[in-house]
Amino acid sequence: MGAEPASFPKPFSRRSFLAVCAPLAVSCARTNPQPPGPKPLSLPLDRFPPGVRVTVLVSDRPVEIVRTETGVTARSLLCTHQGCEVSWSETENAYRCPCHEGMFDADGRVKEGPPPKPLATLPARIDGPLLFVGP
Ligand code: FES
Repeated sequence: MGAEPASFPKPFSRRSFLAVCAPLAVSCARTNPQPPGPKPLSLPLDRFPPGVRVTVLVSDRPVEIVRTETGVTARSLLCTHQGCEVSWSETENAYRCPCHEGMFDADGRVKEGPPPKPLATLPARIDGPLLFVGP
């Protein structure tokens, strides 16, 4: 029958573990905040006259911005089939995809061809002299 040596350390109890480690975790969270997510792209509003289709790059992807009477729309110009860039056809009143004859109506809904989904839209808003596009 041997007794434990007097110098053998006692294990941490749950309470003492939390008392020591919880403040460290809080301190760590304060000093190492999560990296910021993607920010919306801000653009000068005067570059977007009402009713005019303007293409900008958002995260290197083409997005069409159109100011309307009620606000602004931002629509991805990447086809939902295989990602080719669509273009607006004034004569057809539709977006045409050059790759596989896909066609989308003026609201981005699939009209013809293989695209499985409408053109994506992005959040967009006007705030004073700026237009914000993206998350
Ligand atoms: S990529 Fe547009 S129809 Fe195929």
